[in-house]
Amino acid sequence: MKKETINIFIPATVSNVACGFDIMGFPLDNPGDKMSFLMIPEKEVRITSITGADDIPTDPEKNVAGIVAEKMLKAAGFPFGVEITIHKGISPGSGIGSSGASSAGAAYGINRLTGDRWPVRELISFAMEGERYASGTAHADNVAPALYGGFVLIRSYDPMDIVSIQPPEELYATVIHPMIEVKTAYSRGIMKKNVTLHDAVTQWGNVAGLVAGLLMKDYDLIGRSMVDVIAEPVRAMLIPGFDDLKQAAMNAGALGCSISGSGPSVFALSRGQKTAEKVAEAFSETYAPMGIEFEVYVSGISLSGICETDS
Ligand code: HSE
Repeated sequence: MKKETINIFIPATVSNVACGFDIMGFPLDNPGDKMSFLMIPEKEVRITSITGADDIPTDPEKNVAGIVAEKMLKAAGFPFGVEITIHKGISPGSGIGSSGASSAGAAYGINRLTGDRWPVRELISFAMEGERYASGTAHADNVAPALYGGFVLIRSYDPMDIVSIQPPEELYATVIHPMIEVKTAYSRGIMKKNVTLHDAVTQWGNVAGLVAGLLMKDYDLIGRSMVDVIAEPVRAMLIPGFDDLKQAAMNAGALGCSISGSGPSVFALSRGQKTAEKVAEAFSETYAPMGIEFEVYVSGISLSGICETDS
């Protein structure tokens, strides 16, 4: 058996992007997780170390990376096993794709270790099994952007149809992560199960507008389209100070601002890094008096998604 190790960096991801519940997402340049995969002769999956976060089980049957890895090794009929280490730079329950990063990372790492036997689009369904375990629903709007890089549109889940969209160069994201945990399963559970025709028309107008804005590099259209009448109105109550954060971002010149994934992180898109940094200051000034710890990130849109590293 050839001894082989794969080391990777997996970026955090912003999913939904306001109007695109479960169908849009993009990866950030930072923060991100690190994972390593070592081939072992025993036919089993072992998670030998998890750093950077507490309370994540190392039992591969209770860990999203372990679940994805076991499914893939079984599907490949691979005669060896794997030892996985995980360093979490993305806090669990933060809304920037923590479970998605571990799931997509496992899919990418196992594929590399077993000789690239699946094309990227087929890794999505393996990675989605991790998301199913974490949140009860196999959504792809974190794992697909992590695996593909750039903006990703999930046009259809059945059959899976992923569309990559090159983001305009000057697009920057600012993310604030209030350090409270919101479980995706809970945040999905409170969503209304039906939408009115009026809200549906508004939402699909905005989704189309966002896609057109990205393709046409029309920053104002991107901003005008970052309106969510379906998830945000219900989920905003889970995020202390959400309305103030949004107002502060818009006052600082952001194109638009909404909840990242299922929250509690809030993101804004801006034209240019300078404006994104102003938005970061505005987020910090708004949140400092709230008595809740927080982190703020300014980042470009990662075009590569998951990438291999030396260590
Ligand atoms: N689209 C998912 C949701 C993302 O909003 O529930 C969760 O990370």
